[in-house]
Amino acid sequence: MATSILRSSLRLSSNTRNATVYFRSMSSQRDIDPSRLEFHPIATPKPLPEVSKLKFGHTFTDHMLTIPWAQESGWGVPKIQPYGPLALDPSCTVLHYAQTIFEGMKAYRHDDGRVTLFRPDMNMKRMNTSAKRIALPTFDGTALLELIKQLIRTDKHWIPTAPGHSLYVRPTLIGTQKAIGVGPPNEALLFVILSPVGPYYPDGFKPVSLFGTTEYVRAAPGGTGAYKLGVNYAPGILPQKEAAKQGYAQNLWLHGPEHYLTEVGTMNMFVVFRKENGGLELVTPPLDGMILPGVTRDSVLTLAREHAQGKIALPGLPTGLELTVTERPVKMSEVRDAAKEGRLVELFGSGTAAVISPVDKIGYLGEDILIPTGEDGMGPVSRAVWTELSGRQTGVIESDWSVVIA
Ligand SMILES: Cc1ncc(COP(=O)(O)O)c(C=O)c1O
Repeated sequence: MATSILRSSLRLSSNTRNATVYFRSMSSQRDIDPSRLEFHPIATPKPLPEVSKLKFGHTFTDHMLTIPWAQESGWGVPKIQPYGPLALDPSCTVLHYAQTIFEGMKAYRHDDGRVTLFRPDMNMKRMNTSAKRIALPTFDGTALLELIKQLIRTDKHWIPTAPGHSLYVRPTLIGTQKAIGVGPPNEALLFVILSPVGPYYPDGFKPVSLFGTTEYVRAAPGGTGAYKLGVNYAPGILPQKEAAKQGYAQNLWLHGPEHYLTEVGTMNMFVVFRKENGGLELVTPPLDGMILPGVTRDSVLTLAREHAQGKIALPGLPTGLELTVTERPVKMSEVRDAAKEGRLVELFGSGTAAVISPVDKIGYLGEDILIPTGEDGMGPVSRAVWTELSGRQTGVIESDWSVVIA
């Protein structure tokens, strides 16, 4: 990132009168620098939680990472310090204009004791894309990752050893300029907190029901749906409550008069159709600006494509089965017709928290569309993909997606 600032400054220098000044001020800004890390250990470590009582996102480890940013000087001294409240001026921009972005990833402890992150480079890249979209400072993703690894190493005894458990990692970046007024902030704070979590489905997969939501939108063309901004999430809470009141677990966000499928709750989504020749088509909506480019989405697509090309064999999926993998728009009418004609094989959400979330029902315009699920709650493609994916995440299957950090 430092080099990219340098490069764009140099480009500017050839055609701007004030180029030299601009170049100097930009080059004096520091990027995130892991060698400046300060460690302030907690005086009295907290007792470790009882793993059976863990509730997603409710328990936090002893330490957090903080890195301040200021327009004049750039990224400041990174600190690993005791987890605790932040001191924020009541006027600061995040509190008024939602200048906040975040990421979510998991650290896994393998049976042999190694601790790994799953494709963390993708989270660093996405965090920078999100920062850029709302004029928060960008940073060297490799440097931040180095610091996150150090934070996880510091608190690695908090990663539960019980099967299916992990450490949820939540990097967040907020605008902290002490002034009321909409504009790029002159101060920001990046922090990372860690939360030990249990399996999303402790008693096996439980398919969820969706409410086909036409009254509210999660994202729109030209909007911010493709970025992980805090502002995308609070407006989804009321629709979620309304869906729950009608007996559905999550919203299926539909777009436009044609009711195109976009995302499920806070997950990407996939549909599997049976084709006329008996083969299967795995479909997910394209990254058209309304869809968050999920790490799990990309992983599902990559694994399914590699299976289809014969490069790998997904566990349990017959190799002779023709599998087509497509990113294309899907209308609700296509799903409804396929369900009526027995061609709808399965529908599932994908995301870091649940990995794969099978769906058994969609309430749509007053009727329930039923979606087949197997005895274990999954369908043939999601079961195969989940087995491979969770195997790679937990170290049962060796993979270069798994980055060893301790
Ligand atoms: C809106 C939304 N879509 C999709 C996802 C899935 O993304 P990922 O697979 O990177 O967790 C998330 C969760 O992070 C999300 O918040």
